[in-house]
Amino acid sequence: MGLFNRALGIDLGTVNTLVSAGGNIVVNEPSVVAIERSTGQVLAVGAAAAAMLGRAPADIDVIRPLRAGVVADYGWTAKLLSHFIQQAVGRHRLFKPRVVIGVAYQATSVERRAITEAVLAAGAREVYLVEEPVAAAIGAGLTIHDSVGGMVVDIGGGTTGVAVLALGGIITGRSIPVGGIAMDEAILDYCRRECRLIVGERTAEEIKMNLGWALCPGGPAQAEGNAREGGRAPEGQPDELVQRVSGRDLLTGLPKAVELSRTQVARALAPVVAQIVQAVQAVLETTPAEVAADLAHTGICLTGGGSMLGNLPAALQASVGLECRLAADPLTCVVRGTSQILQEIRASRSLTVLNSVQRAS
Ligand SMILES: Nc1ncnc2c1ncn2[C@@H]1O[C@H](COP(=O)(O)OP(=O)(O)OP(=O)(O)O)[C@@H](O)[C@H]1O
Ligand SMILES: [Mg+2]
Repeated sequence: MGLFNRALGIDLGTVNTLVSAGGNIVVNEPSVVAIERSTGQVLAVGAAAAAMLGRAPADIDVIRPLRAGVVADYGWTAKLLSHFIQQAVGRHRLFKPRVVIGVAYQATSVERRAITEAVLAAGAREVYLVEEPVAAAIGAGLTIHDSVGGMVVDIGGGTTGVAVLALGGIITGRSIPVGGIAMDEAILDYCRRECRLIVGERTAEEIKMNLGWALCPGGPAQAEGNAREGGRAPEGQPDELVQRVSGRDLLTGLPKAVELSRTQVARALAPVVAQIVQAVQAVLETTPAEVAADLAHTGICLTGGGSMLGNLPAALQASVGLECRLAADPLTCVVRGTSQILQEIRASRSLTVLNSVQRAS
């Protein structure tokens, strides 16, 4: 890294942490830490720690230090950040970088302080906070400095941030503690309730990625009707893809496998999808009329890993009546946004244009 590039953009997510330096993504790992309980030592961070999820020996705790997008455990968050910042600055270990980091929309002052302190403790010199939907919008290529409004829905692992933006800031928005993890839990609950099968978190996530589907309004009944008639699924309805799922029998405790269909998974996910749709509708209801008129043309941009759920853009579009499109590379929008903000700060045009970036230290 050159002398002038020693600045980092960070997306500290509930599920994944990404770091960019000099315009490149240099860290992209799960936000997971493995700790030896008896000594309190960090054994592994990131992908190596995530590999232990659900299969760690009794003396090892595998934890996600963030919950619903905010710091749940300050000490472990600082350790996680310190590890990734060291990884990003490499041989320039003594150098203290300037950092732009995303915070959840409407994060409280206590939550902002916790993130700032963790970044400083991890070795940063200067910290700027940006609300994640703003970073996501910039990373997705929305022209948020315009007076014309745009809308972004960032569906992460622990949160969904919905924001209407114009003139570099958020006009109205909302953040709900619902995202990819809630989808996994919905699948887990469905397997237990309907199939008497206990599956692990990782299995549930895998099912979501392979079979996951967001139903359009009025979906389940129609979809089941189609399946019964043996017809091909019409556009926007789930096909009858099935997957064999292994776990433990709820009653006997013995290993067991069942077949799950895409329609079943879609039904399991429907309540979570409905919460996301309601959050978007609620924000649209509070959007000023002039801006709402803009959105009829600009539509909604979807970012975050959760937005890659099968059929989600189409289901949201059918529910709210605005064009919904998936951003290019939805998982990296926030970090790419922080990286662009760094460039603006360096060009020092920034802080007047970006009223949504706050210097925190
Ligand atoms: N193809 C896919 N289909 C459905 N979900 C997916 C897919 N790929 C990734 N995900 C989900 O995306 C989530 C992670 O997304 P992301 O990295 O944007 O979250 P995060 O930024 O860590 O969380 P947050 O923003 O809530 O703090 C996980 O729950 C993961 O299961
Ligand atoms: Mg995120």
